[in-house]
Amino acid sequence: LWWFDQKHKQRFIHALEDSYQRYQELIDQASDAIFISDPDTNKYLLVNKAASHLTGYSEDELISMDFRSLLLKEELAQKPLKLHDVYAGKTVLIERSIRRKDGQLLSTELTVKQLSNGHVQALVRDISERKKLEQDLINNERRFRAMIENNREASILVDANGTLKYMSPGIQHISGYTPEERLGRSGLETVHPDDAETLKDLLDELNHSPNKVLSKTVRLKHKFKGYRWLVIEGQNMLADPAVESIIVHLRDVTAHVKHEERITQLNNELSTQVTRLSSLRRIDQGIINGSSLHGRLETVLNEVMQVLGVDAAHIMLYSSQARVLSSAAHRGFVAVKPDEVFQPGDGLAGQAVSTQQRVYVDDVKSDALQARAPFVQQEGFMQYWAYPLVSHGEVQGVIELFNRSVRQYDETWHEFVSGLVDQCAIAIQHAQLTTALRRSNSELLQAYDETIEGWARALDLKDAETAGHSQRVTTLTLRLAQQLGVTQEELIHIRRGALLHDIGKMGVPDSILLKPGSLTDTEWDIMKKHTTYARDFLANIQHLQPALDIPYCHHERWDGQGYPQGIAGTDIPLAARIFAVVDVYDALTSDRPYRKAWSHEKVIEHIKNESGKHFDPSVATAFINLLQHDSSAPPEGLRLMSTG
Ligand code: C2E
Ligand code: SIN
Ligand code: SIN
Ligand code: FE
Ligand code: FE
Repeated sequence: LWWFDQKHKQRFIHALEDSYQRYQELIDQASDAIFISDPDTNKYLLVNKAASHLTGYSEDELISMDFRSLLLKEELAQKPLKLHDVYAGKTVLIERSIRRKDGQLLSTELTVKQLSNGHVQALVRDISERKKLEQDLINNERRFRAMIENNREASILVDANGTLKYMSPGIQHISGYTPEERLGRSGLETVHPDDAETLKDLLDELNHSPNKVLSKTVRLKHKFKGYRWLVIEGQNMLADPAVESIIVHLRDVTAHVKHEERITQLNNELSTQVTRLSSLRRIDQGIINGSSLHGRLETVLNEVMQVLGVDAAHIMLYSSQARVLSSAAHRGFVAVKPDEVFQPGDGLAGQAVSTQQRVYVDDVKSDALQARAPFVQQEGFMQYWAYPLVSHGEVQGVIELFNRSVRQYDETWHEFVSGLVDQCAIAIQHAQLTTALRRSNSELLQAYDETIEGWARALDLKDAETAGHSQRVTTLTLRLAQQLGVTQEELIHIRRGALLHDIGKMGVPDSILLKPGSLTDTEWDIMKKHTTYARDFLANIQHLQPALDIPYCHHERWDGQGYPQGIAGTDIPLAARIFAVVDVYDALTSDRPYRKAWSHEKVIEHIKNESGKHFDPSVATAFINLLQHDSSAPPEGLRLMSTG
């Protein structure tokens, strides 16, 4: 038995050694680290190569190490190992940090179980990478959540019927309601009656278009603030098991919509005003081109002297506002030039005004005639008529006729005189009307230009970042044009053209105009149309036709590579060549949604480089001289922009 025992034991030991040998070989090939420890001593009995690799200790160092020395004390204190579960036959999965020999901490996952021989086996896997990913995910999720929850925007989840399943806290800013007040109710409840159909259609469309992002702008009722304009952007993620909802993003654009409405309204008002003013101006032009009051009076006097055959005539004009009669024209005087002022009722002429009756004196000795004026004696006048000039019941003035001898005239002469007097009265009234009109016309013209300025301001308003741009480029363009010898007449049109140069941007959608980045080919095609839009837009305003060169041609280039026509050199109207330099200067020294402002120096460098390519070389040179030598340049706005 002993022999048997011995032999058996020997074989048993061999077998055991053999099996451990094979076991070692086996576990060394495993990619997971394997540690086998003795639960009585807590010492490692067997480890594999991966264990050595994981911990940085050699296999010899690990053998007989207390396994707890690899673990963190604080972590052990917080989360004791549940070894009783292991001894009860369970396989326990735990996450622990392990400190490597070089001090580095590893996140690991341990699968611990008791082997049939009582030893405890731990399979250890490095999960640092996974942990890091998890942490990233958590961080991302936190960031994402913070983004949503702190935003003035809100995200909600609805089901296929539009029932609210989740609402980010931001919904309170947007709607005034807390999530608790609305969850479980229909998202369609608070929509404005006029937009109900739109929102319902959006929901239907979302239901039919999985994953597609669709959006609409509608009014939703705010708990306290009435209806607000919101952009509702939805994406159907019902099929995604992680979401199982329609994700809806809400953004309050009320201020923006109000702003747009105001601009559209302003634009309509201004455009009506411009059209009305310019048609009025066309009518006035005819009247203005008629002869002056002085010219008309001269005509009357010529007729009187020639046709009536009197020795002298004197026309006085009456101002009903100032209630004075004053000399306006005369003919036939030899010793004096009449220059007199009467009140109504004063003397013979004043009497004609106050009575609206003809006054006649042929008695040389009459006191009244002697009192008329010193010139009556000096000139030797003996016969006198004063005819009131009455038109539409109003006295316009008096015409006096003088003879140096007393003559007799027949009935037809008298009729002819009264006819002439009436004609004279009408001519004076007409002429005075014209003067009044001429005055109101210049007021009209001013109102007209103020309207254009208002329009330009409205345009700048549309794109907040170019505020003041129109005024700045106009001022600078006028100075440059003056320097280049452009006539005063031309300057008026250049002024209007510069103010309205980008009027065509009214036709470019905001999504393109205010885009922060560069434009796609399609967007660029639309953007380039702002020049032709300007021409079409202003086509019906006759008064602005001479001002069209700048709006239509300001993006042409000297080398012919510009738009819309691609014309080159002096084929480009001079006004547009002048304006192009100033516009680019002001654009580049200003912030734009798509880039920050350049420095003044960099812009000057750019203009020099583009001389002969983008710009007319003589204009570019004159512009740079203007900026450098003109004491007042660059103007206030530009200086601020270029240093800022
Ligand atoms: P704008 O901003 O008033 O610019 C007027 C002109 O100044 C431009 O005419 C161009 O000649 C010059 N300019 C402006 N910014 C720059 C720049 O960063 N570099 C250079 N080299 N030149 C510049 P252009 O190119 O015909 O553009 C006409 C209008 O189109 C611009 O008026 C702007 O409203 C729009 N636009 C042009 N490029 C972009 C872009 O990349 N993104 C967006 N969102 N809009 C653009
Ligand atoms: C809402 O938030 O009230 C509208 C959501 C929807 O049904 O699209
Ligand atoms: C023109 O008015 O287009 C002629 C002047 C010039 O060539 O710069
Ligand atoms: Fe432009
Ligand atoms: Fe511009």
